[in-house]
Amino acid sequence: MYQNLYEKITDALVEEGYIVLDNALDIGLTQELMHLCKNEGGFVQAGISDGDAQVDSSIRSNVIRWIDHDNGGAQSKFLEFTQGLQEYLNRHLFLGLNYYESHFAIYEIGNFYEKHYDSFSNYKNRIVSTVFYLNEEWHSEDGGELLIWNNEDAFLDRIIPSMGTLVVFLSEQFPHEVVVAKKKRYSIAGWFRVDKI
Ligand code: OGA
Ligand code: MN
Repeated sequence: MYQNLYEKITDALVEEGYIVLDNALDIGLTQELMHLCKNEGGFVQAGISDGDAQVDSSIRSNVIRWIDHDNGGAQSKFLEFTQGLQEYLNRHLFLGLNYYESHFAIYEIGNFYEKHYDSFSNYKNRIVSTVFYLNEEWHSEDGGELLIWNNEDAFLDRIIPSMGTLVVFLSEQFPHEVVVAKKKRYSIAGWFRVDKI
């Protein structure tokens, strides 16, 4: 059911290395995910990367809750989408992705994430990054944009975290930053990996 979307993402990863898609997933599913992110508890302070559970709020100041299957609920449906994308990317680009991890993230007013890469060259385990936004009525004065550069530090894009917008990029090639949010900001960040935990 997502074949056109998978094809578009795959072509963009080959051509540009990243893509920004508005209204990427079904609106009903997007709304269910927004409600889960807004209304369920269990969020914990985010670390800087896994394997490195340090919490340094001067670099990153949001809270997260890991996504898991929920018996056919919205999280399972989201993971069906990502599972299909993983298989499509493997079939067409031979990436050998074998694991997808993702979490809801909440940025309170004043929260941000300094410029960083999602994958460190000595680990090489996060290959493709995804971010899916869950914010109704977000305007440029609300801050919280995602800024993306290429790996020669040329500025590429400023993305408003609007409900339904999906960003996909190669984890090792694009430094990026989340600007200070001036409104509570909801999203799902995820990574396709080559290792199995
Ligand atoms: C991340 C990240 C971007 C965003 O969680 O690693 O870069 O726009 N998130 O939330
Ligand atoms: Mn990131």
